[in-house]
Amino acid sequence: MRIFYKRLSRHFYDPVIELTFMAEFTLPKNSVLTEGKTYPAPEGAGNIRRFEIYRWNPDTGENPRIDAYHLDMDDCGPMVLDAILKIKNEVDSTLTFRRSCREGVCGSCSMNVNGKNTLACIKAIDAYEGTIKIMPLPHMPVVKDLVPDLTHFLCAIRSNKTVDRNPNACTGRF
Ligand code: FES
Repeated sequence: MRIFYKRLSRHFYDPVIELTFMAEFTLPKNSVLTEGKTYPAPEGAGNIRRFEIYRWNPDTGENPRIDAYHLDMDDCGPMVLDAILKIKNEVDSTLTFRRSCREGVCGSCSMNVNGKNTLACIKAIDAYEGTIKIMPLPHMPVVKDLVPDLTHFLCAIRSNKTVDRNPNACTGRF
């Protein structure tokens, strides 16, 4: 709802109320998130954080799911990317994501953390309270897990135009 004022004369305004209705969409059945696996914290862990991570593998034909991982923060680096690497190396090697420089330069670790797009390598875990929810970047097709398809984004940069204006500028997949 938006309220603005229409000027009637020098000192009088008439309020105008404008109502906007949100469109409702029904998601395709195979895009609905399902509950995933839960990985408990290692025995004896005292400082535990829960990470909920989007998982989707196009090869299985299954719906995307949210897996929950419990990590011991006394044995983990300070950044969100450190937690993801720890999960990949020690808990679940099937987790797929991009990363390269680990210093906030290349942008390859871009992902959505607790509802905001950020670089996982320079985002401190301590910046969040409670569970940390990690999703792929929104508004892009997902290749697998946290890896978005950057084709349109990179094509737009290469052609220095919008993809809509120049749809044949680039046909590769990134
Ligand atoms: S890994 Fe390069 S910006 Fe995060």
